[in-house]
Amino acid sequence: MAPVTEQIVTMAVTKNQIQMALENLPRFKLSHLNTPLETLERLKQDLSERGISTPDRILIKREDATGLAFGGNKGRHFEFEMGHILEGGFDTVININHYHSNQARFLAAGCAKAGLKYHIISTDMVTAPITGNLLLCKLMGAVIHRTPAEYGRQMAEKIFSDVVKDGGNPYILPDDPFADIMGMIGFLETGLELEKQFESAGIDGPVQLWGLTGRSIAGLRLYAKNRGLNWQATAVQYSPGKIEDFHKITSRRSSEVAEMFDLKYSLNESDITVLENYRGPAYGEPDEEVINAIRLLGKTEGLILDPNYTGKAMSGLIGELKTGQIDLNETICFIHSGGLPQLFAHADKFTE
Ligand SMILES: Cc1ncc(COP(=O)(O)O)c(C=O)c1O
Repeated sequence: MAPVTEQIVTMAVTKNQIQMALENLPRFKLSHLNTPLETLERLKQDLSERGISTPDRILIKREDATGLAFGGNKGRHFEFEMGHILEGGFDTVININHYHSNQARFLAAGCAKAGLKYHIISTDMVTAPITGNLLLCKLMGAVIHRTPAEYGRQMAEKIFSDVVKDGGNPYILPDDPFADIMGMIGFLETGLELEKQFESAGIDGPVQLWGLTGRSIAGLRLYAKNRGLNWQATAVQYSPGKIEDFHKITSRRSSEVAEMFDLKYSLNESDITVLENYRGPAYGEPDEEVINAIRLLGKTEGLILDPNYTGKAMSGLIGELKTGQIDLNETICFIHSGGLPQLFAHADKFTE
C-alpha cells in the first residue's frame, strides 16, 4: 500500500472563536465600543508639503474615544478587570501606581461605577499638584495616599488589614496575575473590531500597527498572528528599560493569553519592532520633538495627544517617516491609546 502522506494544514483561529472566548469572560461595561477608525489626511498633507514622503494611508484607531473618564486604552482593559474583581466578591480595591498613571484613573472610574471603595497609593512626585489623573481620581471618590515608592507596599498592606478588620473584602491589584494579562485580552477585541473595519474600508494590504510598548499593541499583534493577517507592529518605548525585558514579559503574558484562548501562537521578539530613540529624557518627560508632534496633530487634525505616551508614539512615527525608515506600501494604523488628562500636568510646556 502506498504510504499515506500527512499534510499539516495550519488553520487560523476564526473571528467567531475569539469572539466566543471573550464572551465567556466576566465583564463590566465601561466603554463606548466600537471606537472609530479615521484617516489623518491633513497630517499627511502637512508632511508632504515639507518634503516628507508618506504611505497612501495613515489611519488612526481612536482608542482615546472610549468615553468614560476621558477615555483611553484602559477602558477596554478594565472591562475585564472589573468583571474579574466583581466575580471575586471584593468590596474594596487597593492600587499602587505613579503620579502620571492613567491606569489609576480607570480603576477609579470602574470602582465608582461598580460602587466599590478605591484607595490609590501614588508613589512618586508626591508634592506635585493634584491635577490630571489624580484630580480625576479624587473627583471619582478615590482615597488618595501619597508616599515615596519604598513605603508603597507597606501602606497597601496596612490599608488591607484595616479593611479586613472592619469586615471588608479587599483586593490589591498589583498582586493579581490577571491584572498583567487583561490588557492584552482587551486588545484581542480591538483586533476583531479593526479587522472588520479594514474589511469594510477595503484594506487588505500590509498594515503597520503603530503604538507604545505595552499590553495593547501586544494584544493586537497576538490577534493578527493567530488570524494569519498581514499586520506588523511597531512599539515606541516611552520610558527607560531594556528592550529584552519588554520582549520577555510580552512573550510570557502572550503565552498565558494564548493558553486561555486556545490560540496556536504566542509572541516572540520578532513580532514587535521596538524603537528606543523617541522616549525623551525620562518617563513623563517629553523632548522637543514630542512637543512638536503634539502641536502638529492639534493644528492639523484637531486631535489631542499627551506628552507621556501618545506624543512619544507620534514623534516616533514622524521621525521614522522623516528618515525614510517606513515602507511606503504599508498602511500605517496609529493606535491612539488616550492618556489625555495628563496633558494638563505639562501645561507650562505649551503656553509659550
Ligand atoms: C495612554 C497609554 N498608552 C499606552 C500605554 C502603554 O501600555 P499598555 O498598552 O500596557 O497600556 C500606557 C501605559 O500606561 C498608557 O497609559
